[in-house]
Amino acid sequence: MTSVHEKLKEMPALGREIAEDGWAYMDGGFVPFADAKVSVATHALQYGTGIFEGIRGYWNAAHEELYVFRLREHFERMERSSRILRITLPGTAAELSRLVVELLRRNGQRTDVYVRPFAYKAARSVKVSLQGLREGFALYAFPLGAYLPTDGATAVTTSWHRTSDAAIPARGKLSGSYINTALAVDEANDRGADEAIFLTADGQVSEGGGSNLFMVRDGALVTPPVTADILEGITRDSVMTLAREELGLAVVERSIDRTELYVADELFFSGTGAQIAPCVRIDGRAVGSGRIGPVAKRLGDVYFAVARGDDPRHPEWRTPVFR
Ligand SMILES: Cc1ncc(COP(=O)(O)O)c(C=O)c1O
Repeated sequence: MTSVHEKLKEMPALGREIAEDGWAYMDGGFVPFADAKVSVATHALQYGTGIFEGIRGYWNAAHEELYVFRLREHFERMERSSRILRITLPGTAAELSRLVVELLRRNGQRTDVYVRPFAYKAARSVKVSLQGLREGFALYAFPLGAYLPTDGATAVTTSWHRTSDAAIPARGKLSGSYINTALAVDEANDRGADEAIFLTADGQVSEGGGSNLFMVRDGALVTPPVTADILEGITRDSVMTLAREELGLAVVERSIDRTELYVADELFFSGTGAQIAPCVRIDGRAVGSGRIGPVAKRLGDVYFAVARGDDPRHPEWRTPVFR
């Protein structure tokens, strides 16, 4: 089996620092990416008091077009995160979406990209609280291929519990909460796996380190509910829609026991970074046949075709950049 570290070498964008190429947007204007800097005393840098999004753009060479996937929905979620962290975003979802299109036009990237909006407590303040702090907002973009292997990922259940809604809410995409992910994924990689699977504090399946989790069992597609300390994934929503429409599958949101993962027919991760990443091994056990199952294969094919614009369905999910 290929080791995690060998796989990472095949995904070079993950292994090296992001190049500060082109433009970024910071606090009201476009600036060279290399000039988009903050003070070392920044509250968010010290305490994790930032909110962010991860958005993918898919380059379609035949159309000569870059399609941003579910752009508005990402800013709608960011607005929800902003309520949790008491941050005021500098525009509506529609206005911030237009800024992303302008950034990508200026950068002229004719490749698959990842866009990172970031809103944060920018004050050079030592007081750990949320209100009365100057805020900042930035956007940057960079080329990105796969984040998890899409040809058969391996996973382990991590010993780190998912942070509960009563501690650090996973519902918000909060910078500081990614310590939880970093600990879990580091442990998974040390154990030779690509992705970690979190359990909630009471031992139910929650989600992947940076992805949502689906299981195929008895012909239905099952995923933990939004009350299982998950990020309410936009890819998760897309998967549920495509599964119902394309495969006529029953989609069930319910609590999942850890051992159900061991007896499931199929498992796969979903996420902006992860895309659709079938999981073929969990805690040292083969998932189903140990090969990518038919549901994950079909959903992956449809997801990529729709996101890249090769399949014309769901035009409302694609924002063209250059048209
Ligand atoms: C912890 C976590 N869960 C789930 C997801 C999937 O969310 P989305 O599909 O909106 O990218 C992500 C991000 O990609 C994540 O970081």
